[in-house]
Amino acid sequence: MPSPLFPQRLAERNVPKQGARRTARAGLLREAGNPGLHAGGPNSLLAPRMRYHIWPDRPSIGSSSRMTSTGAPLADTRQRALRDLRVSVTDRCNFRCTYCMPKEIFGASYRFMPRAELLSFEEIVRVARLFIDAGVEKIRLTGGEPLIRRDIHELVAKLSTLSGLRDLTLTTNASLLTRSRARDLREAGLSRITVSLDALDDATFHAINDVGFPVSRVLKGIENAAAAGLNPIKINMVVKRGVNDHAVVPMARHFRGTGHILRFIEFMDVGSTNGWRLDDVISSAEIVSMLDEAFGLEALDPQYRGEVARRWRYRDGAGELGVISSVTSPFCGTCTRARLSAEGQVYTCLFATRGVDLRRLLREGASDEYIAGVIAAMWTRRDDRYSEIRSSATVSGPRIEMSYIGG
Ligand code: GTP
Ligand code: 5AD
Ligand code: SF4
Ligand code: SF4
Repeated sequence: MPSPLFPQRLAERNVPKQGARRTARAGLLREAGNPGLHAGGPNSLLAPRMRYHIWPDRPSIGSSSRMTSTGAPLADTRQRALRDLRVSVTDRCNFRCTYCMPKEIFGASYRFMPRAELLSFEEIVRVARLFIDAGVEKIRLTGGEPLIRRDIHELVAKLSTLSGLRDLTLTTNASLLTRSRARDLREAGLSRITVSLDALDDATFHAINDVGFPVSRVLKGIENAAAAGLNPIKINMVVKRGVNDHAVVPMARHFRGTGHILRFIEFMDVGSTNGWRLDDVISSAEIVSMLDEAFGLEALDPQYRGEVARRWRYRDGAGELGVISSVTSPFCGTCTRARLSAEGQVYTCLFATRGVDLRRLLREGASDEYIAGVIAAMWTRRDDRYSEIRSSATVSGPRIEMSYIGG
């Protein structure tokens, strides 16, 4: 019987109909893999539950601040600081993008997280505050689709008051981004917004979102965001060979001169359900060459260290675009991102197979100091660089899905 503090795991909720595919869920993975943070040995951060009835003042390892004991900023084993927190607020989405939530897996019988398993806004804010204390400056709200949580602006309002936070943004498919919701988000303190859109023609977009959602309504959402002042608006387009590569130039033509920044993303092998093949990846180099031929481009410098997108500008002054080359030119060397799932697991890599269960600590009464120590120890032990070593040598088993951990 699952205890109320340890609800039934995702893997158990989504019993596979046909063999192993659906076992590719985070819940299962949290229990698998290398023993690092979870095992109950002397170095364990999350020792078996019975070990503490009352949380000790400090965890056994690590210090609870953004500084290490030597006074240096918190850094992982590759000297990468902790700067970004991506917060998934739901694992649900109203789209079924074939590269993210394919219908055969995320169909009617798929069991999403029950409400009680989601972190409350208060819990998210508490975790966010502790991450800011540990060095985080930017928070991105994601999902699934974050606007599925109707009162998301209330979370934004709470987060935006946290001192030390420099950038608070959100990634959405814009399907629910009405004028009033865009205004509420802006008034609550959201700095800007990123919208996913993979084509401009309905035939292609329908084939990708797989729910028949029209392009015009996403464009309307973008317009609403702009009217509310959620600028600069970034538009993320995942490019998949033979599916929407014909839309690259039309998308660029459409967004040139609007002030919005279009970014082309290489299709990644994230999760275990999207049938990824290297042949399906259109490289950033191909995209840049297509666009250079069509419009004329020149490279721009990064805006900040560790920027995920490589920036380019149109030679004629029609604005900026970006390419995100996580497959052909990985950026693990400067990766400063941690990810919090909607049910309170923290992951130090998009391709992680295990997370650290902060919800349990929150709900069992752990002190701020203790949780800060857990975060510090988790980060200082971090060694992830999946995209750099993506090969037969890397984990070939099931991984967390993007809809679970955020885009
Ligand atoms: P800005 O804050 O606007 O600079 O956005 P960003 O560069 O953080 O990019 P965004 O959050 O919009 O991410 C865009 C896409 O880049 C994601 O949907 C992923 O496809 C990819 N991406 C982002 N972060 C990572 C990462 O840490 N690892 C890998 N492999 N891909 C990532
Ligand atoms: N490859 C690259 N990006 C992906 N996203 C989701 N799945 C993938 C994938 N397989 C990202 C896209 C989308 C966001 C929600 O998640 O950027 O816009
Ligand atoms: Fe939903 Fe975004 Fe995934 Fe598409 S890519 S299914 S819009 S979370
Ligand atoms: Fe960071 Fe992991 Fe992505 Fe590399 S693969 S950039 S370590 S999240």
